[in-house]
Amino acid sequence: MLGVIGGSGLYSFEGLKVEEEIDIDTPFGKPSSPVVIGRIGEVRVAFLARHGRDHSFPPHLVPYRANLWALREVGVDRVLAVSAVGGIDKKLSSGDFFIPDSFLDFTKGRESTFYEGRFSKKGKGNDKVAELLNKGKVVHVDMTEPYCPEMRKLLSEILSRRGLPYKEGGVYACTEGPRFETTAEIRMLERLGASVVGMTGVPEVVLARELTMCYASLCVVANPAAGISGRKLTSEEVIDMMKKREDEIKEVISELVRILPEERSCGCWRILEGAEV
Ligand code: HPA
Repeated sequence: MLGVIGGSGLYSFEGLKVEEEIDIDTPFGKPSSPVVIGRIGEVRVAFLARHGRDHSFPPHLVPYRANLWALREVGVDRVLAVSAVGGIDKKLSSGDFFIPDSFLDFTKGRESTFYEGRFSKKGKGNDKVAELLNKGKVVHVDMTEPYCPEMRKLLSEILSRRGLPYKEGGVYACTEGPRFETTAEIRMLERLGASVVGMTGVPEVVLARELTMCYASLCVVANPAAGISGRKLTSEEVIDMMKKREDEIKEVISELVRILPEERSCGCWRILEGAEV
């Protein structure tokens, strides 16, 4: 099942015919919102609001592990994450969509793994994830290609068919937040090859991959990153842009749900092969 993690400005999903709302507790506490399960057309989809329905979880305090664990519990094997970002690449304008193919991690001390060796929480089920957790294995997961190539390709095709401005491929730099960056930090990130900057993409993508889920990120450029326009940055402009793009985001998700093949043809589900010590 596809799980959608809604970011700033996307706290619910009206296109979803709700069937269940599950209040899940995990070994990492409660997720930031109940998991809503419903149907888009005939297809079952799960939805979770990353910052909570009332946007009360700042980026550095989002319970990322609880969120991904909860999605696994309800049967999610693919995640589409929607996020607002600041544009660093000069070719990106506000309102453009962006689909990253790699990331740079500038977060500080977030809990970013399920695999804590002898300290791991016990996993349910009889798959590789549960086996590694229950045996207390140390695991180094491959991050060569963090974002699912199959989902990225489908998202690009949808955006292109709909004539929406987008860029597929490029680097998402994740900062700790909750403050915006300095001009110097953005200059540094630009030199390091970042196309966009956000505060929530990591460790979310890493945790999904550790659970063998496919993960793709549908970013919306909400503002030019700090120092690029010369203007001060505000949360208001970020939320305004996400609201402006809300209908398109939902249309893209609905189409993705319609065309995603049931079988995963990417290698994401095999990511744990050879990962344990
Ligand atoms: N920086 C970090 N995160 C963001 C930004 C930004 O400029 N815009 C939206 N999310």
